[in-house]
Amino acid sequence: MIPWKEIAPGVWKATVGSPEGLTPLQVIGAAPRLEAMAHMEPARLPFEQSEITVEAGPGCRIVSLPLGETEKLYGMGLQFMRMNHRGRIRYLRVNSDPKQDTGETHAPVPFYVSDRGYGFLIDTSRIVTVYGGATLRTEDTRDEDIRDRNQGSGWKATMTSAHVEVRLPAEGADLYAFAGPSAADVVSRYNLFCGGGVLPPKWGLGFWHRVPTLYSAEQTMEEALEFRKRDFPCDVIGLEPGWHSASYPVTYEWARERFPDPASFIRDMREGGFRVNLWEHPYVSPKSGLYSSLKPLSGSYTVWGGLAPDYTIPEAQEAYKKQHAEHHVDIGVAGYKLDECDGSELTNNSWMFPAHAKFPSGLDGEQMRQLYGLLFQKMTDELYRSRNTRTYGLVRASNAAASSLPSVLYSDLYDHRQFIRALCNASFSGLLWTPEVRKAGSAEEWVRRIQTVVFSPLAMLNAWGDGTKPWSFPEVEPIVRHYIQLRMRLLPYLYTVFAQYRERGVPPFRAMPLVMSADEIAAAEAQQARTEADVLNTTDGAYGKRKTKEWDDQYMVGDALLVAPLFTGESEREVLLPPGVWYGLETGERYDGGQIVSIRAGLERIPVFVKDGSVLPLIASLPNVPSSTEQVALEWVHFGASAGEAALYDDDGETYDYESGRYGWWQAMAVRDAGGRWTGTMRHIGGTFQEPTAYKSVSWRFEQTRL
Ligand code: GAL
Repeated sequence: MIPWKEIAPGVWKATVGSPEGLTPLQVIGAAPRLEAMAHMEPARLPFEQSEITVEAGPGCRIVSLPLGETEKLYGMGLQFMRMNHRGRIRYLRVNSDPKQDTGETHAPVPFYVSDRGYGFLIDTSRIVTVYGGATLRTEDTRDEDIRDRNQGSGWKATMTSAHVEVRLPAEGADLYAFAGPSAADVVSRYNLFCGGGVLPPKWGLGFWHRVPTLYSAEQTMEEALEFRKRDFPCDVIGLEPGWHSASYPVTYEWARERFPDPASFIRDMREGGFRVNLWEHPYVSPKSGLYSSLKPLSGSYTVWGGLAPDYTIPEAQEAYKKQHAEHHVDIGVAGYKLDECDGSELTNNSWMFPAHAKFPSGLDGEQMRQLYGLLFQKMTDELYRSRNTRTYGLVRASNAAASSLPSVLYSDLYDHRQFIRALCNASFSGLLWTPEVRKAGSAEEWVRRIQTVVFSPLAMLNAWGDGTKPWSFPEVEPIVRHYIQLRMRLLPYLYTVFAQYRERGVPPFRAMPLVMSADEIAAAEAQQARTEADVLNTTDGAYGKRKTKEWDDQYMVGDALLVAPLFTGESEREVLLPPGVWYGLETGERYDGGQIVSIRAGLERIPVFVKDGSVLPLIASLPNVPSSTEQVALEWVHFGASAGEAALYDDDGETYDYESGRYGWWQAMAVRDAGGRWTGTMRHIGGTFQEPTAYKSVSWRFEQTRL
């Protein structure tokens, strides 16, 4: 029996053994948003806590939880290969090359969400393994369930198990159980418990472009201005290796031959409406002014010859922050891309400190690698927070409890389908992910990738290696421009969707199991005959090749929009539509939901659907996101035949003043009177901002079926 204690509404904690070292929750240290949690419906776990057992194993402890026959398990961080982890073994180690379906990834969060309506977090800096119904104990194995693979039918490589088993480190770990009742409630509770979701600065939701390696200040400015000339919105320019005086390992100091006057460069960029984001990684070059102070505070192994500092030590954190403040933040750098804090041994080039590395704080290499991404996110967050300026950036490794941090994950992988699956999966674990665009083999692929990245937490072209531009395929330039401009038009909607993440823990981008219940999905699927056969006894399918559709290729953005990407070579697909009536956002076509529909779309369209009765707040496309002192016109567009309502959030968009109430919430309502006349109203419902000052005028369009 484990001693569980309710520590927040619908959240129970138990400590098993005597865990050592820092944990993700301790690193982040965010206060749970108890008030928001208290507003959720009270809920229980779908089983008795006494059904969760712990036993000692060889060099480990094993936690066992009950598992229903058809239960599905989602989450476990930034997973690329599948959405439902039922029947799989997940080895949750930070790794930059998640090319196999083992569980290893950039952000292997030891948290899963069951569609039975509960979540389970193991808060540890150690690697844990989750056997999600992938184990069958001898005493539980029934003779009648055993099939002869070659002569009978119904043989399965993974026999049905009634347990999730989690292999913990021998020292134990802190365990947390989260109640639902729905999977979406579990995720909200988890995010709120971890401090709520991040609210990016408004400019972070504009378009991002990263220039090639070794670009100079002059080349960067020229490229930025090309966006203005060609009427492509852009808010952030990212610098890649080449801005440091030395990279691999890095100095964090400007390369004066390419950036003779960094302060003027950043000021000029800002005047042109561009923020500057800097690429960096953790490994400190002997040529850096920081080297001597960090040397005694670093681990026992180097990476690329650079120090791997122990950023759990306050003195090391202070040295990093002071240097970054003086050289970057105080001259206007807007944020960072925190690269390579993950490590690799799956490619030809292995690089990372070993698990047996020793760090001055007492942590070992395994623990530091699991926590490194979080530590960097936390340091840069604090750097900006202390200046009352919001930041938004990128990071390549993360872990649990990261929802409040202003960083978006990315990868060197590049499979488009996997990128969209990662976008869906990130929503179960308090993570944000960008399916960044880098290059394409054809104009078609270019368009399909751009069309999805604009419907993601960070709309970015990362041209560091290929030197691509949005207009690289001239034959599709108008389509690319159209979608980058659409991203800009959606800004008030996206910003509100993020405010809901912050305040209610609801992920801005959501996988389908967070939108529809297991029963609703099953009912929609039941209307379609699906034949799936296992391919066994071939050299390619020795243990079965069946893949059931997981709806891991479509997602919701907020409550109103459903995005169903098309991939290269496709002009049609099936879409799982939640109950209700839906319209093609750009086609106006009407669909009945609660079923699977087949749709076709040419290259000029990504299938996006808007729910009947939705009211979307939009602005006109602009070269860059308006600053806190500019005002633009707001347009409410109401869709369909039903009356509808929507929320609007606003604040200064740049500082943390919203934390002391300086924001506003409005409720917009579109209603039709008995005579059939539509009216739109906006009512202030929260915060000290009485008026949405970002908007100089408000207009309405009703009964639209398309934008
Ligand atoms: C990689 C990163 C790329 C790019 C490159 C520069 O690690 O994923 O996006 O920044 O480094 O060397």
